[in-house]
Amino acid sequence: MINKDAIRKVTNSIEPTQVMEGAGVRLRRSIATRQLDYLDPFLLFDHFGSHDPEDYMAGFPMHPHRGIETVTYMQAGSVRHTDSLGNSGVISTGDIQWMTAGGGIMHEEMPQQGADGHMEGFQLWVNLPAKLKMSPPRYQEILAGTIPEAAPQPGIRVKVIAGEYAGLHGPVTEIAADPTYLDVALEPGVTFTTVITSDHTAFAYLYFGDGDFGGVFASSPRLLIFGEGNSIQIKADKIGAKFLLISGKPLGEPIARYGPFVMNTQQEIMEALKDLREGTFIKHS
Ligand code: FE2
Repeated sequence: MINKDAIRKVTNSIEPTQVMEGAGVRLRRSIATRQLDYLDPFLLFDHFGSHDPEDYMAGFPMHPHRGIETVTYMQAGSVRHTDSLGNSGVISTGDIQWMTAGGGIMHEEMPQQGADGHMEGFQLWVNLPAKLKMSPPRYQEILAGTIPEAAPQPGIRVKVIAGEYAGLHGPVTEIAADPTYLDVALEPGVTFTTVITSDHTAFAYLYFGDGDFGGVFASSPRLLIFGEGNSIQIKADKIGAKFLLISGKPLGEPIARYGPFVMNTQQEIMEALKDLREGTFIKHS
């Protein structure tokens, strides 16, 4: 029998894979790899970051998406974007872009070289349920200053991007997977605990330091998947730990994926490619 009141143990600890994406951007990928294709409802997780502009300046020129939501969270530097909804702007350190591709969007994501050349951030793809895959696209930009930060006890700082923590609510809302997205910083030796029930898939991405994640010791960079239980417990080791804690409701639907399109059937992928060929890809602008 499964004890659902238990602390959720890590069932899988994944070392990111180095990949080249877009027009030549070097990044570390932990979901959408041979080792982990899909962590329902999460389709992809990338950590991009470099002090060398050569690693990222080529960026992601205009490309389509359908059937998913993408979340970009900047840690350093900035990315300029434009899309087929008419949005354009720059997201910088601490800002978030949450894009619902729905039935179809075209966009461009171009990193900008900062004063010290450092650019770093994360991109997560969240699946959309079948009934929302062809919905109108939407774009939410959340500036760093509007993201609430909790400091429930000395040595713990938590930015609440989506979901709830310590009575604070994240500004990213109305996302189909009902996600929690926290950015947590722990001082050395400090223990962090929060409730995330078993019916939500949950993972942590450790991007600095090391610590004990539900019984498994990990050093950055690492993606850790939590098993059954009701709460998450993480204890930072000697140099502290910084990690994202992300959870969402699994869809339990079949997926058919092809690059930037994620649908339920191969037939729908063929339709996306046909729409692209025939210039009918964008249904809403
Ligand atoms: Fe994209």
